Amino acid sequence: MCGIVGYVGREQAAPILLEGLSRLEYRGYDSAGVAVCSAGEGRLEVAKAKGRLKILSDMLHGGADISGTTGIGHTRWATHGAPSDVNSHPQVSRSGRIAVVHNGIIENYAELKAFLKEQGIPFASETDTEVVAQLIEYFLETDKVGLLEAVGRVLRRIEGAYALGIVSADVPGQIIAVRKDSPLILGQGQDFHMLASDVTAIIQHTRDVIYLEDGELAVLTTEGIQCYSQLMVPIEKKVSHVDWEIDAAEKGGYEHFMFKEIMEQPDALRRAISPRIAEGQVVLEDFHLDEAYLKSLEKIYIVACGSSYHVGMVEKYIFERLLRIPVEVALASEFRYMEPIVTQRTLVVVISQSGETLDSMAALREAKRLGAKVLSVVNVVGSSIARESDQVLYTWAGPEIAVATTKGYSTQLAVLDLLALYLGRLLGTVSQETYDQGVAALEALPEQMERVLERREDIQYYASQYFNHNSVFFIGRNLDYAMGLEGSLKLKEISYIHSEAYASGELKHGTISLIEEGTLVIALGTCGRLFDKAMSNVAEVRSRGADVLALTTESRQEDMAHAASGVITIPDAAEIALPSLGVVPLQLFAYYVALMRGCDIDKPRNLAKSVTVE
Ligand code: AGP
Repeated sequence: MCGIVGYVGREQAAPILLEGLSRLEYRGYDSAGVAVCSAGEGRLEVAKAKGRLKILSDMLHGGADISGTTGIGHTRWATHGAPSDVNSHPQVSRSGRIAVVHNGIIENYAELKAFLKEQGIPFASETDTEVVAQLIEYFLETDKVGLLEAVGRVLRRIEGAYALGIVSADVPGQIIAVRKDSPLILGQGQDFHMLASDVTAIIQHTRDVIYLEDGELAVLTTEGIQCYSQLMVPIEKKVSHVDWEIDAAEKGGYEHFMFKEIMEQPDALRRAISPRIAEGQVVLEDFHLDEAYLKSLEKIYIVACGSSYHVGMVEKYIFERLLRIPVEVALASEFRYMEPIVTQRTLVVVISQSGETLDSMAALREAKRLGAKVLSVVNVVGSSIARESDQVLYTWAGPEIAVATTKGYSTQLAVLDLLALYLGRLLGTVSQETYDQGVAALEALPEQMERVLERREDIQYYASQYFNHNSVFFIGRNLDYAMGLEGSLKLKEISYIHSEAYASGELKHGTISLIEEGTLVIALGTCGRLFDKAMSNVAEVRSRGADVLALTTESRQEDMAHAASGVITIPDAAEIALPSLGVVPLQLFAYYVALMRGCDIDKPRNLAKSVTVE
């Protein structure tokens, strides 16, 4: 989704903006632009270009062609109007003296545009954002107010989701920042201040950040940041310190962020798991949901999107087995429209790597409105979902840059596995043996995952055998089915191969008609108690001509080798740890296939890292 960066200080802004935008490229975009104010001359220069940021950067000779020490920059992911130079941001007012960058959607833009057109104001673009720039200028001219007041008047009229950065040629040396339902952080430095849609864009300059709450506004100058409440009352905000290292957001010698992040998983899991286990017990120090409330729970709802939803699908099986409480998993984009049955005795678990996914955020608010408590599992510290939840458990995976999540997914699984064991013990629903096995399995997980990663050449070999297939089926039962959902998504999002995940038993109810000579079926059979069933399903599809690549545990390798064309193995482990181990070969398979097909792995077409529009 769109990325925003802004800088006001003593340095030339354009090179800093371009560098910041390059760190936001991972979010997904189709055009880029900057607007820079030069104080002395009261001049505002705007440069924009469709396509990769490099086009804009080359056009401006790395920023040298545009001078001024205050500026805003943007990478656009088109919503209103096709990707084009004119629809790119910054969008400017009729006079060209106000420039705006925006992430989100102004829902009532058509009505506002019609009003402005009636006043004789011409529009240059098809974007909803241009309305904001034009409306600010309209209030400046007709109401004779200052810039801040004009912005305030605009905010009272626009509806929707927005993070905005605004500059004016008439007030150089100042940026106005606003947010509602779209991410925006402010960076505090010595003699400079910044804004950005995420911390990766500014971390090279400062780690001291301010998180704006919904409806809040800020004025940034070289000297400081003044924040205002929704009612335009000056407020003091807490400054937080981000402890991510800049290296964590760089490739560090790897060809792709996705591969780097796959390889980082054992360490990410250590960070997520080790501090939460002490002397064989799960210890959730930062967990403060009331014991009586937890004991009164009648239902758990897990709500998320994409891969995070797939984590929810795995955890439904684990939670229900360990807690004997009904668990429903809902797509966040559906949740608020389905009249969910949520009461004060429902715990809603929102899973989100970014903590900024708009659908998940909306579901969280709906859950709270209905009286539930919300526990979120989030990677990005201080993100919107984390801040609005009653309880947050961080995954501590470090920054995830590749659009296709890997370490985000596996650390979410680990944190929820820990939570399931913790609650199982608290509610008395888990046996001592299962608890001990689960804790030991999670402690052993990072090291076992290292062993899976060491065998990556086997996966590379299978990828070379199958990368030309145009359609792939993932089948499995129970935890293997849930894991297949993620394997299938990984493959389709980065390699563009059509792929489906099916519960093995469901195949014969329709989909098996698609199996023909040479169809690739990836059969997942890691779950020991269902292994015989997995074997039967392999036989079922092979007898119809399918080429079967199977995934199972080391102890079952030989048996599976009789049935499948190829077998990939993971170490034997307690059931709770199998999806975490099993997903790694599937991530690697998707990665190598995409590599062999020449795909843009870190920035797959049409996708964005953090989906901040509905
Ligand atoms: C997965 O590879 C995707 N990037 C996507 O499905 C992602 O998991 C989804 O958009 C949810 O994101 P979140 O975890 O940041 O909320």
